[in-house]
Formats: sequence, structure tokens, C-alpha cells
Amino acid sequence: MQAADRQRFAAVSMMIDDTLSELIRRRPRTLVLTGAGLSAESGIPTFRDAQTGLWSRYSPTELASPEAFESDPERVLDWYDWRRALIARSRPNAGHTAVKRLLDALPGARLVTQNVDGLHQLAGARDAIELHGNIWRLRCAAPGCRHERYWSDRTAPAPRSCPDCGKILRPGVVWFGESLPAQALASAWQLAEVAEFVIVAGTSGLVHPAAALPFHALEQGARVVEINPDRTALSQAAHWHLACSSGTALPALADLLDAP
Ligand code: OAD
Repeated sequence: MQAADRQRFAAVSMMIDDTLSELIRRRPRTLVLTGAGLSAESGIPTFRDAQTGLWSRYSPTELASPEAFESDPERVLDWYDWRRALIARSRPNAGHTAVKRLLDALPGARLVTQNVDGLHQLAGARDAIELHGNIWRLRCAAPGCRHERYWSDRTAPAPRSCPDCGKILRPGVVWFGESLPAQALASAWQLAEVAEFVIVAGTSGLVHPAAALPFHALEQGARVVEINPDRTALSQAAHWHLACSSGTALPALADLLDAP
């Protein structure tokens, strides 16, 4: 470990009080909820960073809405090609690896993510619930055509026309104004209902219904830790707010499970 990492690690260890350590060591039924901040340390910009964020040039609705796709499909698909190329060059970071360790070590723990980049899965996380879909999935935009496929070739841009009907293919992600996949949302809600402990990492909590999940868990009596360098609407309500990066805080939490 390098000196800077050691310093960061020491700083986060100070934020983890005895109550939090003991709770994790008791191996509670855990829900991990992640957002774009988790992939920031893999070099993927978050959505709302003022300078580098994915929405810095265009507004969300100009790039990720059915209306944008209808009015300028090429612009929307070019943007998704750019994002896929960026993700293809990225690797899971220490935060992704720590989530996998937590899922493996905590019985019944589940991951719900808003991220569409697939980096959690690349790090080995099992059974991730993807609330906003996956950027590597493609589906035909034509009404009535059910063509859907996973595009695993990370070296080439995704195809744009449907092999079944010739109409345009769109990314298998949830756009603004669209419903979340019903099964994924129902499972996430159920997990929030029964969780004893919720780890919320790298999300601004600005997009619903995902943002409501930790509050629902709190109402049911769960303990909640938020990991985010910035404060959010959840920070006040959460039992702990670890004001640091997920690549530092999540490994520190996972290490607690290794300790004798
Ligand atoms: P946002 O871009 O809204 O928020 C990212 C959060 O991560 C911010 O609160 C940052 O402070 C925090 N952050 C940045 N770097 C971090 C780090 N290294 N460690 C921990 N936290 C860090 O992303 P989401 O909350 O995921 O939806 O956004 C939710 C949804 O809004 C996305 O799924 C996307 C977007 O519009 C759609 O595209 C439908």
C-alpha cells in the first residue's frame, strides 16, 4: 500500500465507529445500493459532476429520453457508443472488488445498482439487480419487435439495425420518463423492506425510485451507512455518513469481516 493510500485508509478507519464495526461483524442481512460514484475511480465520469459529468454538454433529456431518441437517434446512439468505448477501457476498482467481498461474506447480501456499465459483474458480484438496465444490452426500438441481445464485443461499436426487422436498435437502459424493469424494482423494494443494514455508495440520490430505497429501509428499522464525499438528502437521515471515496471506504468495511 502506498503512503497516500495508507493515509486515506487511516482517515476512513477513524470514521468507522465501534457501533458500525460491531454491526458488520454480526453479519446482518445487507443491501448494497450503488450509483455512478462507484465507477468514478475507474475513470467513468459521474452524471452530475459540473465539469466532467456525463450531462455537462447536454441535459439528461437531450441524451437519455425517448423524445431525444425520436428527434435525433444518431446523436443518442453516438453518445452511447462513446460511453461503451469508455467503459470498455475501464476496469473495476477497489470499490467494486470490496462490494464483491461484502456480498460473499455477508449471508443473503444483495446488490442493487443504478449503474449500467457492468463493472460490478466484471468484479465478480453475483446476482446484481440492475435498476437502470445495462449498456451492453441492445433491444429493437420498433413496437412489436422483441429482438434483444447482449453485445459483448468490446472492440467494435454496437450494431444499429435490428437483424429481425431492420429497424433501429436502442440501448437496453432506462431513459428519463420510462418505467424501471418491474421485476428488478419489486426485488429491490423487497430487499429494502427486509434489510437490517444498507450500504449506499456513490449516488446523489436525485433519481427516483432508486433514491427512495434507503429511506424505505430506514422506516423499516434498518441501519444505513452512506459513502459519498459530498452530502446528499440521505446524509442527515443515515446513521453514518462516511465522507470519502467508495474505493477507500468499501475496502475498509470489507476488511472488518476478515478481522478475527
Ligand atoms: P450521480 O452522478 O447523480 O451522483 C454520483 C454521486 O457519486 C455524487 O453524489 C458524487 O458526490 C458521488 N461520488 C463521486 N465520486 C465518488 C467516489 N469516488 N466515491 C463515492 N462517491 C462518489 O449518479 P447517480 O446517483 O448514480 O440515470 O445517478 C442516478 C441516475 O441518474 C443514473 O443511473 C442515471 C442518472 O441520470 C439514468 O440515466 C436514467
